[in-house]
Amino acid sequence: MNARKIVDGVYWMGAVDWHRRLFDSLIPLPDGTSYNAYLVQGQTHTALIDTADPTMQRELLGQLELVPRLDYVVANHAEQDHSGLIPCLLAKYPSAMLVTSAKGKPLIMDHLGVPDSRIRIVNDGDTLALGGKTLEFVYTPWVHWPETMVTYLREDHILFSCDLFGSHLAASNLYVTDEGRVYEAAKRYYAEIMMPFRAVIRKNLDKLEPFAIERIAPSHGPVYGHPAFIINAYRDWASDTPKNEVVLPYISMHGSTGIMVNRMVGALAGKGVRVTPFNLEVTDIGKLAMSLVDAATLVVGTPTVHVGAHPAVFYAAHLANVLRPKLKFAAIIGSYGWSSKAAEQIADLIPNLKVAVLGSVIARGLPQPADMAALDALAETIAGKHRELNLL
Ligand code: FEO
Repeated sequence: MNARKIVDGVYWMGAVDWHRRLFDSLIPLPDGTSYNAYLVQGQTHTALIDTADPTMQRELLGQLELVPRLDYVVANHAEQDHSGLIPCLLAKYPSAMLVTSAKGKPLIMDHLGVPDSRIRIVNDGDTLALGGKTLEFVYTPWVHWPETMVTYLREDHILFSCDLFGSHLAASNLYVTDEGRVYEAAKRYYAEIMMPFRAVIRKNLDKLEPFAIERIAPSHGPVYGHPAFIINAYRDWASDTPKNEVVLPYISMHGSTGIMVNRMVGALAGKGVRVTPFNLEVTDIGKLAMSLVDAATLVVGTPTVHVGAHPAVFYAAHLANVLRPKLKFAAIIGSYGWSSKAAEQIADLIPNLKVAVLGSVIARGLPQPADMAALDALAETIAGKHRELNLL
């Protein structure tokens, strides 16, 4: 795709990766992604803000064919999907300097082999004058690495936010046109990348509050022409207040746990609690992560394999633990053949969540009427806790 003008002297560059289906060899990308770089041309100097994934070298270099001089490459973030083409650009433009944060410098030297002599550190609040265009650098650590910063173009009120506010969404439109679609893609992105850093994200949102922002130009997904939409979404997602929702990841090997999951789903729904079951045999873990953004309660459903929880359930519980959602409560349900330590194992797997474990119901073989009654009681306990928090 060709470079595209955002305002006079500011252009989108980079690449749309239409067919990529997995990020970090982990995260499903049902809608592809993009790696956005932005060219800012002042009267005296020119800067490129972030680069693109190394696989997109041909696209970015093709767009830069019409740019004879580049004075600065700004690295808001050292991760390779944005920094990967820095060595290539510094070779193409031998007098260009790499501009990055104090913590970004060693990361870029170690990850990309950029020499010290080509790197200029900018501190929080520093500016870079390009001639009628002034870049201001704002440290926004831990979105989602320690070195992350954003760049604000003062004259045009554009925030180049790199991963922050990004969405894994391949689209031919430069701007967000379908907010519902971008909301889903941005929430998926937030859940997988940003959610562990909720508290610091709230601080960074406060830090950005005084800036007059007319456009947000992230490094994944389309540009926001109406930034309040995504800023408000981030405020909601990063808040400490959960919603009246239960997430229920589970596996059922011979059907017993499946019967219990269905009973629990019906009992919760009957009490007005929104609940989403995820059969881990077929679940897109991105959807599971998205559901964890708002949920108040996690119920894990597992059969027993070698006395413990099913390995797929281990994986989901570990994922929830590292994503650190705002969950308040948890419970474990499931079944076993002859012996089980599954409930204790799952409870031990989620120490980061700081949840109150409300109970467990583990049936031997097919669930009996007493097991079903215990599930109904557990559903009532969950609903009661939601009521106590005024969620229901
Ligand atoms: Fe899009 Fe943290 O890289």
